[in-house]
Amino acid sequence: MKYVLPGGTGQVGGHLRRALVASGHDVVVLSRHPETLEPGVRHVVWDGRTLGPWAGEVDGADVVVNLAGRTVSCRYTDRNLRQMMDSRVGSTRVVGEAIARAADPPAVWLQMSTATIYADARSRPGEPAHDEATGVIGGEEHDVPLYWEYSVRIARRWEETQAAASTPRTRRVALRAAMVMTPDRGGVFDYLLGFARLGLGGPVAGGRQWVSWLHGDDLVRAVEFLVAHEEIEGPVNLAAPGPVRQRDLMRTLRRAWGRRVGLPATRFMAEVGAFALRTDTELLLKSRRVVPGRLLDAGFTFTHPTWEGAAADLVADVRRRRSAGASRPE
Ligand SMILES: NC(=O)c1ccc[n+]([C@@H]2O[C@H](COP(=O)([O-])OP(=O)(O)OC[C@H]3O[C@@H](n4cnc5c(N)ncnc54)[C@H](OP(=O)(O)O)[C@@H]3O)[C@@H](O)[C@H]2O)c1
Repeated sequence: MKYVLPGGTGQVGGHLRRALVASGHDVVVLSRHPETLEPGVRHVVWDGRTLGPWAGEVDGADVVVNLAGRTVSCRYTDRNLRQMMDSRVGSTRVVGEAIARAADPPAVWLQMSTATIYADARSRPGEPAHDEATGVIGGEEHDVPLYWEYSVRIARRWEETQAAASTPRTRRVALRAAMVMTPDRGGVFDYLLGFARLGLGGPVAGGRQWVSWLHGDDLVRAVEFLVAHEEIEGPVNLAAPGPVRQRDLMRTLRRAWGRRVGLPATRFMAEVGAFALRTDTELLLKSRRVVPGRLLDAGFTFTHPTWEGAAADLVADVRRRRSAGASRPE
């Protein structure tokens, strides 16, 4: 099949495009910068905002998976928040326009969204998990920083933009993805493992906040599953069925690496740490308890349903890569 991946140069895109190529698919990445990617991946330039020759790649493609958006791993300044919103809404709108104009539109358009769309888990008594049917969209919680509401607003506008596109011949799915864990450098798992290795990966602000996560290989399998399942439309949670509390997430990761001790961090320390990393505390402190209701109902099985298994697999992969790198001649 021909897959077009707008924003396919990032962490998720890298993992997805390599897997798709390995499965024999024809993969085209849309990016703002000309770049050489792996053999088998074609690279086409777009600006993420306006129609151009790139739209010809969408015409006749089988699948579009739009991953474009300014990274959320940054300080939430007004400027960055605006760019986070504009890059997601703008790229989604223009992908929709390209599909609407195509003579031979793709059968399915998978659009990245985020599990952050749901309310902080602590806002509901008993902290029930959010699935697509019973989950509560965020933005109205008490006792959470006001600007967290903006992240929810971005997610809502992102999904609304896809839903508003005029693409009657193309099935649309919004991927409410949790943190995608891959062994690649610079990804979220790389950061978490870095903390664990330094003995810094203890509970943050008590560590009771839920973390929803997904092994990168299950993301790839979920994408292929959603492409194949023509009856599935609308929002779909992409999260492993076993979300964990932050302190357990880090404890398991330390064990998987063979490190016993993890220093606890107060909320204040999390703020300092987040500042040093040039990221925002929402990523560390918001409680996200999201489960894959629709995927499980449709019969999807996870290769890595538990964090214990996923962490062990990812650590082994990182170790393998490092020793292969170390033994490679200069
Ligand atoms: N990683 C996760 O755990 C996770 C979880 C939930 C949702 N998501 C969402 O999934 C998408 C992909 O995630 P990721 O981690 O792969 O992100 P990423 O590494 O930041 O990559 C996103 C890509 O978007 C493109 N981009 C950045 N700014 C842009 C702009 N202003 N206009 C158009 N394109 C722009 C970039 O491609 P070029 O520079 O090549 O143009 C970049 O490679 C993001 O939208 C993210 O919010 C990610």
